[in-house]
Parts: sequence; structure tokens; C-alpha cells
Amino acid sequence: MRRNIVAGNWKMNELFPQADDLVNSIAEELHNYDTADVDVVVCPPFPYLELVSDVSEDGDFFTGAQNVSKFENGAYTGEVSATMLKSLGVDYCIVGHSERRKYFGETNQDIAQKIDRLLNEDITPIMCVGESLEERESGKYLEVIRTQIQEGIFHLSADDMQRCVIAYEPVWAIGTGHTASKEQAQEVHAFIRSLICEKYNDDVAQEVSILYGGSCNAKNAKDLFAMEDIDGGLIGGASLKSKDFIEIACSF
Ligand code: PGA
Repeated sequence: MRRNIVAGNWKMNELFPQADDLVNSIAEELHNYDTADVDVVVCPPFPYLELVSDVSEDGDFFTGAQNVSKFENGAYTGEVSATMLKSLGVDYCIVGHSERRKYFGETNQDIAQKIDRLLNEDITPIMCVGESLEERESGKYLEVIRTQIQEGIFHLSADDMQRCVIAYEPVWAIGTGHTASKEQAQEVHAFIRSLICEKYNDDVAQEVSILYGGSCNAKNAKDLFAMEDIDGGLIGGASLKSKDFIEIACSF
């Protein structure tokens, strides 16, 4: 059965001392809550992965990375491989975030390769999809999502598909304060699940957690997470405040 997941994407924020404070206060806060029915994931920038991984050993949360190389190892200056992530205790990794697609030219094909690398190391990919404002307004948003999913992840076997998480993040909602309504989000989540069901079967579709991301915060998380096909959130800005982040994680 699909898990509830709340993952904090710190993006390129915080210096080391603040990152240290933040992860330790997340760990402390988490001790006060019962989070048995949710996997909490903290995704810091690469240089802080070891810190987060160390703290997570005694905490009730998992460590996630924000990106991974599509290459295995070798002469790829500036890249970080899935095996390196594994050696630091990383459990989850975001792939294909819209900021990587937009600023670093990541394609669906790159994303497909990254997912393969992660699964080889037994790291759970959190694959992001989402449409731009223009694509939503033109009414083509479901087609955009379909292509991202088909090209990025549908090369997997049914067994491997069940090991993945998908995050629906409308680009117009990320960092803007314009959260998708719960109905808008539910429509796309149900659509993604129906695509998985069509390609594989309903058992596989019921195993894949689908998260919502885009200005999700402590105020709107409960309503979003109550929707049938929304299994949690990928949280940007609000994950930088431990209290808000934990409140979101406790919104099921
Ligand atoms: P946001 O970012 O919560 O700040 O909108 C979400 C994300 O980009 O993962």
C-alpha cells in the first residue's frame, strides 16, 4: 500500500551552521509527534548530506538528495553519483525538479537515466512532473504530464515502478504562494494514477505514492492531503522552518 510521505526540499539555501541547527531541530520536534504513518524526508544540498544522514540515524526521518548524475562514475567534473549518495546513507533522491529542467536543461531522457541509477543503488527516486502556467491556461496540462511520465519513467518494469515516488508540482505554484486548489491537484494526481494503471495495472498504481508540491504549507496541507490520490507533499520554502515542516508532516 502506498506510503504517506512528506519531503523537505531545502534547495540551495542555508549555510552549514544553519543547516546543522535546522536538521537538529527537525529531529527534536519529531520526537514529540507520532509520525508512524508518514515517512519524513529531509533533502539538503549535497555538502550537508552527511550531516543530515548522521542526525537521521537517531531520528525518525530519512535523508534525501536533490539531484544525482545520470553517469555511473569517472571523469564527470562536478557530478555526484548514485553510489556516492548511497555511501552517505541517502534513502531518497529528487529527480527532474522543474528548476533542473528549466535552468540546467534536464530532459525526460536524462531523468529516465537518473532513475535507473538510483534504483540500482536502492535509492527511492522522487520524480517531479508539472506544467507551466502557459500550459495550464492553454488546457494542455494533462498532455504535458502524460509526456513527462511516459518518457521519464514508463521504461521501468512493474516491480521497479512500485519502488518510485512521483511528485506533481505545477510550475506556477512553486515558490509563488499560489497553491493549486485541492481539486486541481486531485485531478492531476488521479490522472497520473490512471496512467500507471493503464500502463501496468491497478495493483502497481496503488503502490506508487504521489506527492503534491508548490506552495504547500502548514495552513493548506491538511486539505490537500485529505484528497484521495494525494499521498503527501514535496515542500520547499516551508521546509526551512522546522515547526512548519513538522506541522505539515502531521497533517494526515
Ligand atoms: P515551494 O517549493 O514549496 O517553495 O513552492 C516546492 C518545490 O519546489 O519542491
